[in-house]
Amino acid sequence: MQVRVNGISHDFVGDAGTPLLWYLRDELGLMGTKFGCGIGACGACTVHLDGRAVRSCQTPLSATQGKGVTTIEGLSPAGTHPVQRAWRAHNVPQCGYCQSGQIMQAASLLATTPSPTDSEIDAAMRGNICRCGTYLRIRAAIHSAASGAGTSDTAPPGGSPNGAEGGR
Ligand code: FES
Ligand code: FES
Repeated sequence: MQVRVNGISHDFVGDAGTPLLWYLRDELGLMGTKFGCGIGACGACTVHLDGRAVRSCQTPLSATQGKGVTTIEGLSPAGTHPVQRAWRAHNVPQCGYCQSGQIMQAASLLATTPSPTDSEIDAAMRGNICRCGTYLRIRAAIHSAASGAGTSDTAPPGGSPNGAEGGR
C-alpha cells in the first residue's frame, strides 16, 4: 500500500493495522509526533489526516489509504504557520513534549473555526493534555493566530521552529 506523508508517497509492505504513529516514528524517522499514552487519551500523537486532527496512535495505516497525512514537520517546513508564529510570540512550550500535538490540534481547529471562542477552544483542545499546564498560553496563542496577531517570528532562546523540541 501507499502511505502519503507530508506530500510524499511511501511504499509500505506489512500489517495494514500498524498504528500510524509507529510508522511515522520508527519507519520514517519523523520524531516530531510524540508517543504519550498509546490509547488515544493524551493527544501527544496528533497529526492531520486530510487536514483533520486525528490521534496517530489510534489510526491504522489502512485508514490513511487515499488520504494525506501531515505531521508537524510538514505543517510548515519553515515553521511559519500562523499557529507556530503565535506559539513563539506567546512562548507557549515548557518541556515541549505535548506541543507538536497541541499545534496540530489548534491548526485543525482554526481551519474549520477561524475565530473560535474560549469555549470552542477549550472544547477542541480538551483531549490534548499538557502536564506542564500551558493551557492559558495555548488559548491566548490560538486567539492571536486567529486574529493574525501571532506574527512575531522571534523565537525564544533554544526554541524550535516547529514546536517539537520535546524528548524523543
Ligand atoms: S499517544 Fe496517542 S493519544 Fe496519547
Ligand atoms: S509543555 Fe510539557 S507537557 Fe506540555
